[in-house]
Amino acid sequence: MSQTNIIWVLLIILTSQVIGNENKDKEEEDIFIPTREWQVVRKGQKIPKGLHVRINFETGITEAKLLDENETNKNSALQKIPQDGEGDDDKLLNTMVIKEALKKIKNDEILKPDEIKKTNEKFRSYEQLKKDMNSLNLTPKIDAEVLKDLFKQILEDFDFLAHQFDNALEFVNQNGFKQVIYKNLNLSDSQIRQETLRLFGSLVQNNARVQIHALETGGIGTLLRILNLDQSVQVKSRTIYALSCLLRRFPLAQLKFVENGGLSVILKILQKDPAKVQIKLVTLMNDLLTENIQALQDKSNENQSMLVSQYKLVNLEKLLLEQDWCGYLNKLLYLLYIADPDDHDSIEKCILSMHTIASKCAVHYNTDILISLQERYKTLALNDLDRSDEFSNTDFFTNLHDLCEEILHLKNVKTEL
Ligand SMILES: *[C@@H]1O[C@H](CO)[C@@H](O)[C@H](O)[C@H]1NC(C)=O
Ligand SMILES: *[C@@H]1O[C@H](CO)[C@@H](O)[C@H](O)[C@H]1NC(C)=O
Ligand SMILES: *[C@@H]1O[C@H](CO)[C@@H](O)[C@H](O)[C@H]1NC(C)=O
Repeated sequence: MSQTNIIWVLLIILTSQVIGNENKDKEEEDIFIPTREWQVVRKGQKIPKGLHVRINFETGITEAKLLDENETNKNSALQKIPQDGEGDDDKLLNTMVIKEALKKIKNDEILKPDEIKKTNEKFRSYEQLKKDMNSLNLTPKIDAEVLKDLFKQILEDFDFLAHQFDNALEFVNQNGFKQVIYKNLNLSDSQIRQETLRLFGSLVQNNARVQIHALETGGIGTLLRILNLDQSVQVKSRTIYALSCLLRRFPLAQLKFVENGGLSVILKILQKDPAKVQIKLVTLMNDLLTENIQALQDKSNENQSMLVSQYKLVNLEKLLLEQDWCGYLNKLLYLLYIADPDDHDSIEKCILSMHTIASKCAVHYNTDILISLQERYKTLALNDLDRSDEFSNTDFFTNLHDLCEEILHLKNVKTEL
């Protein structure tokens, strides 16, 4: 069982869906007639159940054939489908194909023992998965809703595999970004877009070769387009996650992001989107800014002139300052505090961002709110001091207090100058 098969399985399901979606009107009549040889399945054709199906990633062509008689009980990627329906239902691709596909994804032949252990801890077992699938009340027909659910599950399960370095590279080799990711991101179903964005993030995370591939295939522009135009808050949040995985520790992508107008898109969102999205974006910008500052200070980078010059070219601090980052953060802190003074997580993210760039921004920050927060966090830290249990937040509040104090100190120093 090679990794290629994993990707095939995924694509079989995708293809069924694409075929179904694009040709809703015609699909009643047009049924693929299988033989013992591989034959091309045309778009819009329905695939009878019990067939071998495969797709060529390079060409996007789907092929199907009857199973060889002697293969029935063999442990092939797509086993012969149990006949659990009669009559008309037999003509349609049965969801058992998908069940068997999932079974193979979970199969111990693919994963090494320690990986299986990890899988079992993190994910439903195959037995559980089977139960869950049955409880979905699957009909044997291809039904858009059912397929959507299954497809979402496949994406979720595949997401686990994508964290493994080799699987991610294989996905790239098989042209999966074009065939799966970018196609899915244009589908109208927002849940599929969400899951696809998560898969995008997992694939590129900590994997330089996949990052480069995503960059070369237009990943930045695609993510920015979604961020700019998508209406769903969940999709936007996932887009920020994918963007973060692509940009971090990859100055070339950061440069492309800046050149493609990434900051204007972000500033636009920061003016109007829900606080949840804003906080995520602010955190991403702060991570990138911190990375940029550290890379330029880090002495061990001194012989890596390429890397350093790339970070210099990005020059995120200058760009953010030009976009009135100081004023924006100051306003955000105020709004967060007014909206819910007990939303410490959001306030923390804002204060951390303000602290990172305080040497440039402190004079623009509002003193009153920082002083009142500083006092509040001192009180909260003291209140929690008595609680020696694991729920004590003393460290968290003390840290927030110290950050406010440092920002205020910088502000005083700068103001006196
Ligand atoms: C099944 O039979 C065909 C033809 O008889 C043969 O070519 C093929 O190798 C067999 N497959 C397996 C898995 O034994
Ligand atoms: C997705 O849609 C965009 C915008 O309409 C288009 O430019 C792009 O080519 C589409 N991508 C795919 C893979 O269909
Ligand atoms: C950079 O290169 C110089 C000269 O080759 C060498 O002496 C120095 O140790 C190097 N610095 C680092 C951090 O590798």
